[in-house]
Amino acid sequence: MLALRPVLVALASAVLALAAAARAQDGVAPPVEKPDFEKVDFETQIRPLFRDHCLKCHGPDKLKGDLRLDLRRFAIRGDGEDPIVPGKPDESLLIELISLPADDPDVMPGEGEKLSAEQVALLERWIAEGADWPAAGDAAIEEREARRKQRENIELPALDESEAAREKRAIEAVHALGGLAQRVAANTIAVDVNLSLLGGKADDAALAALDGLQPTLVWLNLARSAVTDAGLARLKDFPNLRRLNLANTAIGDAGLAHVASLAQLEYLNLYGTKVGDAGLVHLAGLARLEKLYLWQSAVTADAAKALHDKLPGARIDLGREAEAMLEAAAKAKAEEDARRQQAAEPFNAMCPVSGKDVDKTVFSDFEGKRVGFCCTKCKAKFDADPAAFKEKLGAAK
Ligand code: HEC
Repeated sequence: MLALRPVLVALASAVLALAAAARAQDGVAPPVEKPDFEKVDFETQIRPLFRDHCLKCHGPDKLKGDLRLDLRRFAIRGDGEDPIVPGKPDESLLIELISLPADDPDVMPGEGEKLSAEQVALLERWIAEGADWPAAGDAAIEEREARRKQRENIELPALDESEAAREKRAIEAVHALGGLAQRVAANTIAVDVNLSLLGGKADDAALAALDGLQPTLVWLNLARSAVTDAGLARLKDFPNLRRLNLANTAIGDAGLAHVASLAQLEYLNLYGTKVGDAGLVHLAGLARLEKLYLWQSAVTADAAKALHDKLPGARIDLGREAEAMLEAAAKAKAEEDARRQQAAEPFNAMCPVSGKDVDKTVFSDFEGKRVGFCCTKCKAKFDADPAAFKEKLGAAK
């Protein structure tokens, strides 16, 4: 058995990292305001400021003045020419440029509204405090960028005329079935096919439509389809497959024998399949595998661990216990919160004794309810003979 606690801790920190990365990317979280006596926090105060005001011109897609403000290694290189000099706002070109008058041609941001005096002061203070720039947030950004590049740079040999004609027919055949077939990105001939929306219509026979896509098919989504173990035999002819989704299909151990030869495979989703420990053995040679989803399959934790020992670079997600425990924990917390909420607040807005507004700090617990009063006098009256106010309680909500 895999120990569960580290799995949960890893899950929780992955969720946090994801959330931070999502915030960094989507620009949803506004910069956080904190009291002046606390040290400036890069992730919550500075990164959002750069993101909102600077990355349009100093991000991954544009590099005005050779400067990127999304990754530390571009902004603080240590080559003596850095626009940010930790500890020395007065020597930092960045501070100089954001402090220029709005009509100065060199003022930053180079477009749009000037930074406020508070924002300038915050950046000054951050640099004065040492320009801390933790690596964790950068790592998430770099990983995402690497993935994007990888997706855009799938290099495949060009097709000759007859191959191109066959490929075109195959794409049309997939479309005729009602499936999706398209290039993965503008600058590659790599193809993505998705038959998952067809459900039971996408059976072994339907896979014949892929004939002609052997050289270019890199992503194939067969989730919820009716493909069988025998049908997967066809996949052996698609050597460039990188992603294969078989979630919620009838695929079992025998089907994975046909996956074993897909040497480029990076992502394999077997969620909700009949695959068990015997099937995993077929995956041990997939050296490029990065992600394997096994939640609600028949695979045991021991077999997952054995595979992980052979493929240390792969993230194997067994999900089951972690999922169940997270669910149970979330439910328990929701119940606890509801109970606390109920216990803390009087259920009524009107004092059952006087009919005036309730003062939430004056209450008595009666028949499982927290009853609020307008004053301690009313509370005393009520406490002396609660039953006498029962009828009024019904109306006091
Ligand atoms: C509309 C585009 C744009 C925006 C937005 C922008 N900049 Fe610039 N930035 C430029 C251009 C263009 C240059 C290069 C100017 C040059 O080389 O003369 C530059 C240069 C710089 C430099 C000098 C780089 C060097 O080492 O020479 C710094 C520092 C800088 N910007 C900081 C910022 C900061 C901080 C923000 C956000 C508050 C920002 N910029 C927003 C366009 C922009």
